[in-house]
Amino acid sequence: MSLKSPETFEELFHVKLLAMYDVEQQLVSALPKMAEAATDPELKQGFVSHLEETQTHVARIEEILKAQEISPMAESSDAIRGMISDAEWCIENIQDPNVLDAALISSAQSVEHYEMALYGTAREWAKVLDLSEIAGILEKTLSEEEKTDEILNTAATKVNKLAYSETKDVDATEEQGFLGRLQEGGI
Ligand SMILES: [Fe+2]
Repeated sequence: MSLKSPETFEELFHVKLLAMYDVEQQLVSALPKMAEAATDPELKQGFVSHLEETQTHVARIEEILKAQEISPMAESSDAIRGMISDAEWCIENIQDPNVLDAALISSAQSVEHYEMALYGTAREWAKVLDLSEIAGILEKTLSEEEKTDEILNTAATKVNKLAYSETKDVDATEEQGFLGRLQEGGI
């Protein structure tokens, strides 16, 4: 049996878990960089707190994999790598701290929504497979991801206005540059 080519629903569930394991591990690496780049103190603290939570999420998936007798080898997720790469682009290229904060919130929410989709699916699959205890663990992480998304929504309300009010007078040349980057697909 190759986990890369799942033939059964249960194997598909296992591949999904291994991809989620990769997602959480990639986030453990990315969140410190996002915390360091953030300027708003609440946003910075939010990334630090979510890093601790994400380490718990890794441990929970390890617990599930152990229960399913699956060796914890992450199944590489291109999606999360793309999202983290976008966040890194913002960190490297956006100079204004408030605009960067707004971009970091957007990146973080993309990740949270992706995780919510993954955990929601995995929880439902666990139910179908009659794995109620595992479904409960997945539900717990799902509710933490949802809570993080709400915290980011609150942060965005403040940060977006600040980013707009402090940079709305940019001159036409800078706006031209921004539109150029948009057209190149950099944002
Ligand atoms: Fe997570």
